[in-house]
Amino acid sequence: MTCWPAGSQEAAIIQREQNLRDWFTRGCDSIQKEVDGLDIGWGGVQRWMTARMPPLAGALHLDLACGYATFLAQLGWRFPGVRLVGLNIDFEGAHVLARPLLQEAGVEAELVQADARRMPFGDNTFGSASCFLGLQDIEIGFGETGVLAAVAEAVRVLRPEGVLSLVDEFSFEQFDALLGGLPVVVIDRASCALEVRWNREIAERAIGLYAEGWVAQARIADRVAQEQTRIAVYNQMEQEMERQLATQGYYIPFGLVRLVVARKR
Ligand SMILES: C[S@@+](CC[C@H](N)C(=O)[O-])C[C@H]1O[C@@H](n2cnc3c(N)ncnc32)[C@H](O)[C@@H]1O
Repeated sequence: MTCWPAGSQEAAIIQREQNLRDWFTRGCDSIQKEVDGLDIGWGGVQRWMTARMPPLAGALHLDLACGYATFLAQLGWRFPGVRLVGLNIDFEGAHVLARPLLQEAGVEAELVQADARRMPFGDNTFGSASCFLGLQDIEIGFGETGVLAAVAEAVRVLRPEGVLSLVDEFSFEQFDALLGGLPVVVIDRASCALEVRWNREIAERAIGLYAEGWVAQARIADRVAQEQTRIAVYNQMEQEMERQLATQGYYIPFGLVRLVVARKR
């Protein structure tokens, strides 16, 4: 399924993605280039999301759980001139890359280190907000109540009529449960598949790294428990990888992602 548009702006963004991907994966071996390269553009899904989001006007835009800012780069390319703020729980480890990545992308954004469950912003601050694949990481670290708190905070800091765009591997029912009870109206829903087909060699490297990433997000202090969790997550991913390789001959590392756009009342 192809779910993103073609056109001259797309071509320009694809070129910028490629340049950023080359920078991001410089010095990597060819397998690592495939695995890490996915983060830039995320197999076309980031472009699909920015094309589908209501256009961002002059007001401030918040991207929460911005990680190392790959989606902020896409926002800056799609909506030049918009004032961007990225919030993440830390800008250490891999996330230290956020500033150099934005510089390389040619996108300006203010980065704020904070917990999305307690944002350091006043009510009605932002004209729009987004979260690209951040809610699932908040769920790994802080459970369902953590995700509920982060979404409620995103709505609190939005101005009335402001728009919140969320993309994650969650079902529409999960999104409904997150947004239910908040002063918002859902104005768009859509889903998109990742256009990535990896062979065994790439898939095996990827699941090893993803299992380590999962453990880091889970914020488990005890080393033994960390290792047990890593093995359990790896085994689960390996099972799915083997299933896909056997049934379709390639591995798609993530399922369908869903976009929900909600307007604050
Ligand atoms: C998979 S990344 C999201 C990708 C990112 N949007 C991008 O464009 O590259 C998820 C991020 O959520 C962050 N995170 C997890 N829990 C958080 C919290 N409670 N508050 C803020 N950020 C959080 C993690 O540090 C991680 O960088």
